[in-house]
Amino acid sequence: MRGNTLNAFSALLLFILLTSSHAILAKEKIIIDADVGIDDAMAILFATASPELELLGITTVFGNASIENSTKNALYLMQRTGLNIPVAQGAHTPLAIPPEPPTDFVHGGNGLGDIPVPDTLNAAPHELSAAEFIIQQSKLYPGEITLVPVGRMTNIALALKLDPTLPSRIKQVVIMGGAFEHPGNVTPVAEANIIGDPHAADVVFQADWDVVAIGLDVTTKVIVSDKDLQKLEKDNPVPGGFIRDFSQFYLAFYRSVGVEEGFYVHDPAALMYVVAPELFSTREAAIRVASEGIAIGQTIAALPPQNTRGAWKDVKLNRYADTVDSKAAKKLFLSHMRKVRFVD
Ligand code: BDR
Ligand code: CA
Repeated sequence: MRGNTLNAFSALLLFILLTSSHAILAKEKIIIDADVGIDDAMAILFATASPELELLGITTVFGNASIENSTKNALYLMQRTGLNIPVAQGAHTPLAIPPEPPTDFVHGGNGLGDIPVPDTLNAAPHELSAAEFIIQQSKLYPGEITLVPVGRMTNIALALKLDPTLPSRIKQVVIMGGAFEHPGNVTPVAEANIIGDPHAADVVFQADWDVVAIGLDVTTKVIVSDKDLQKLEKDNPVPGGFIRDFSQFYLAFYRSVGVEEGFYVHDPAALMYVVAPELFSTREAAIRVASEGIAIGQTIAALPPQNTRGAWKDVKLNRYADTVDSKAAKKLFLSHMRKVRFVD
């Protein structure tokens, strides 16, 4: 009898040990969809240095840079890190509105703050398009992938069009985009990733999956200065120096618009949410995107019970972040950037 109790106890202990070590070892599978400019590059490097994340691939989109430069920048980052992570190229224009030129005044002519990027790289883009790659990975890892779009959401909308069953295989979607209780950064109401393709953003919010929007309400609360980057360079010389170099253009842009303290850590904030959601508070709301007129690109959030009336009645609920622990988020950002490794 006593032997049986002991055996049952040991089995229980073994079960707890196995399940908890699995929980410790299991990494969150992610795909980053980015218009690889400066803060996108930081988000990608953050992911490569995150013990909590497994970066399955990077899909690229137009926006901060042309689609060619966006893809080239992603491939170059992979070359520097020596990681064999696929880069799949995506859309070069929005779904329905006329294309705008890249935002080179923020990210430089090549998207990476005009630091030199070699003409020839040692890897080519994946044979699948961004949308096809997302669908392929979702079939390989059903229910396990967090999609992290940090640019215009055109590729995600195209993937939904190609395969409307995609949401059933995606764990969650964490976007950098939107301005909810905060002014926009392109118009008084619109944030860049949303106004860059408002139709795509609306499709993403309406699809049958859980979306968490990390918008300007929180990303403008996490600010990194050149002094922080100097320290990063000292602690992690080669990657830190590279990050500091490509950030100079970005710092100059922020200074030109009156932000003297540094730059906003937009895109990495979406990754920070995936890694440490406890640093954020979120609100549940029905979210739609205005796709024409003076409010084009506005992310409108109907907080319950507003979502129970009129045109909002059947709009599904998602979440947007409304507060962030700025100090802890900045600490997390810098500590992960200290872990970025390059092979040359
Ligand atoms: C967003 O716009 C782009 O410039 C940044 O990369 C970020 O994704 C911020 O509004
Ligand atoms: Ca971006």
